[in-house]
Amino acid sequence: MKKRKGIVLAGGSATRLYPLTLAISKQIMPVYDKPMIYYPLSVLMEADIREVLIISTPRDIATFKELLGDGTQWGMNFTYKVQEKPNGLAEAFIIAEDFIGDDNVALILGDNMFYGANLEEVLKRANERESESTIFGLYIKDPRAYGVVEMDNDNNVISIEEKPENPKSNYAVPGLYFYTNDVVKIAKGLKPSARGELEITSVSEEYMKQGKLKVEKLGKGMTWFDTGTHDALNEAANFVQTIEKRQGIQVCCPEEIAFKKGWITNKELSDLADKYIKTNYGLYLKELANNKLGE
Ligand code: TTP
Repeated sequence: MKKRKGIVLAGGSATRLYPLTLAISKQIMPVYDKPMIYYPLSVLMEADIREVLIISTPRDIATFKELLGDGTQWGMNFTYKVQEKPNGLAEAFIIAEDFIGDDNVALILGDNMFYGANLEEVLKRANERESESTIFGLYIKDPRAYGVVEMDNDNNVISIEEKPENPKSNYAVPGLYFYTNDVVKIAKGLKPSARGELEITSVSEEYMKQGKLKVEKLGKGMTWFDTGTHDALNEAANFVQTIEKRQGIQVCCPEEIAFKKGWITNKELSDLADKYIKTNYGLYLKELANNKLGE
C-alpha cells in the first residue's frame, strides 16, 4: 500500500477564543485532561500514520516542539514547519511539499476532535484508497452552518457547498482530508479566495471535477467537535470528562494508541505513566502497561 503521511495544521489566529489565546496557541489549550492537539494526533495514529508534520505559527511552533518532541516517545516521527500567516488551510500542502515527497497525505485541523465506534474502520477505508481522495461527511440535523457535501449512491462527491441556505444533504464536512500525492500541485495552482485564503474546499472541488473524490460517512454515533469557541471548548471538555469518568476509558490518548498498535513496549508505556503518576491519566497508563505485562 502506498504510504500516507500526516499533517496537523495548528496555526491560525484563534480570535474567537480571545482572551484565552492572546498569548498561547488554541491547540495547546486543555480539553479536560490533555492538550487539544492530542485529539487530532490520535486520529492520525488510529489511521496508522506515524510520520506527522506539525504546522503552526512563528510564535507557537516552539511550544509544540516542547510538548511533542520528535515523536519517538510514541513510536512516531514528528517534524515541524511554520506558517508565517494564516493564508488558508490549503497552504499547508505547499508548506509540506518536501515532507510529503512521493507519498499520499492526510490533513487534520488541530482543533478538530472525533470520537466514535466506527472511526477506525472508516479511516482504514480512506487510507487504503490509493488513487482517489477522501473527505468525510458527518450527519448533522441542521448542517447550514457548515460545508455540506452531496454524494451519489457510490459515495462519489457531487457537490460541496459552504454554509448553504438549502443544504442538499445532512452531511457536514469536518476538518479531516485524505488526499493523493498530487495535492501539492493542486494547492500551488490555487488563487486566494475573496477572503484572501487558499481554500481547502477548492482542493476538494478539483478532485471532484476529476471524478476522484469519495466521501466516507461518519455515522450518527460519531461525535465531532471543532473546539474554536468558548462554548465548544467547554462542551468538548465536559464530553471527555463524562466518558472518561463513567466508562473508565481514555478518549484520544496517544500513549494508549501507540501501545495498542505495538509502537511502544510495556516498559516504555510504564515509564511514560510514571511521569503523570499523580493523575488519573498516569494511573490509567500504568494499569494498561501492567495488565499487559507478562503476556
Ligand atoms: P479557524 O477556526 O477557521 O480559524 P482560527 O483558528 O484562526 O480561529 P478564529 O476564527 O477564532 O480566528 O481555523 C481552523 C483550524 O485551522 C484551526 O486549527 C487553525 C488552523 N488554521 C491554520 O493553521 N492556518 C490557517 O491559515 C487557517 C485559516 C487556519
